Amino acid sequence: MTTEGPPIRRLADWDAAALRDRADEYGTPLYVLDQQRVRENVAALRAAFHDEEISYAVKANTVRATLETVAETGLSAECASAGELQRAADAGFDRVRYTAVNPPAGDLDHVVELAADPSREDLDLVITVGAADAFEALARRGYDGPLAIRVNPGVGAGHHAKVTTGDAPKFGVPYDRVSELASEIVDRGFDLVGLHAHAGSGIHDEADLAAHRELVSRMGDLARELGHGLDFLNVGGGLGVPYRPEEEPLDLDSVAEATREAAGELDVRLGIEPGRYVVADAGVLLTTVNTVKPTPETTVVGVDAGMTTLLRPAMYDAYHEIQTLAPDAGERDPITAMIAGPICETADVLGRDRELPRPERGDVLAIGNAGAYGYEMASNYNSRPRPAVVSIGGGEPRLAVERETLSDLTRLEVEQ
Ligand code: LLP
Repeated sequence: MTTEGPPIRRLADWDAAALRDRADEYGTPLYVLDQQRVRENVAALRAAFHDEEISYAVKANTVRATLETVAETGLSAECASAGELQRAADAGFDRVRYTAVNPPAGDLDHVVELAADPSREDLDLVITVGAADAFEALARRGYDGPLAIRVNPGVGAGHHAKVTTGDAPKFGVPYDRVSELASEIVDRGFDLVGLHAHAGSGIHDEADLAAHRELVSRMGDLARELGHGLDFLNVGGGLGVPYRPEEEPLDLDSVAEATREAAGELDVRLGIEPGRYVVADAGVLLTTVNTVKPTPETTVVGVDAGMTTLLRPAMYDAYHEIQTLAPDAGERDPITAMIAGPICETADVLGRDRELPRPERGDVLAIGNAGAYGYEMASNYNSRPRPAVVSIGGGEPRLAVERETLSDLTRLEVEQ
């Protein structure tokens, strides 16, 4: 099976007829995840970051089929919660990193239990703490495995202020306090194996790349300063993908080269932990047109997917390409339209001012780059069942996650 693919898969590269068939078969809204594209993305990352440890930030997409695909490639898993850790371990990852952000007590209990579970003896687990008291909480629970420190490097990047983490006080130990915590961890007999920092998500333009290099350079200095016999320096995820047709993909080779250069001479292994890059262009969201309404301002195309299916446009004003899959699209006049979801919020718009062949009721539209933070951020708001997920790119298409039903919505309610 080939693992070479184009640097980015655009929406137009998908097989429209095959997508229509999936929509007919499974209904909409429907996420389609192409596991072959996931493999290609991992291969591209590997080719560029050949000497670095690559972890997949599972938060971008934790659908079991995707986790299994990535686990098979041999990447490690970066997990932000006990739930993610459990899913990654169950899907076959043998190296897992738990990056605890203000970890709830229950999470720590679970993670420490997993670390001590004899049936998971082969699991290589490192816990990354972002605060001195998180370390204390682990020590109190009897954890004696390897630890890393999440550093707040004081420099952030990302596609939106809401996902810029490197300079947000919420994340990591302040840069100038790391040395103190490191000594404490080592003095108490723990194995401090790594340092970690993450600039933010969606690093794509020059300013973001400059911030990334700055972060790596600061972290390189810190690793040299500490000299506690660390194994790795993880400089985070965040590699962006082009969402707009006019945007170019990142040149991974030059990002990798710049990362190594910025880190400087090190006797520890560099690590990265991309999520989006692995899965974004491996997913599309299919949605059906429910209504077409001319208004004085625009034509509103009402579809069955909304902010509960794909939150990114409402949450970050994110742009996702939208195309019609109607077989006779070529014969229709183009119009400019607003593609709006069925949720009672003004923010529930998937695309504004989009030019596309005049949509008709019943048409299926495809929304691109939906593999990362798409299904993952779906919710039940407005009592909308979450969509189904179908997996392709490994034999016959197969249902990966069932569509929720109305009765699923009340399944956890307790009768009064
Ligand atoms: N490592 C850490 C510690 C992170 O917090 C994240 C993302 C990643 C790695 C992976 O970042 P990526 O390579 O996927 O950019 N929901 C937002 C993205 C939030 C990302 C949160 N942390 C979105 O849809 O844009």
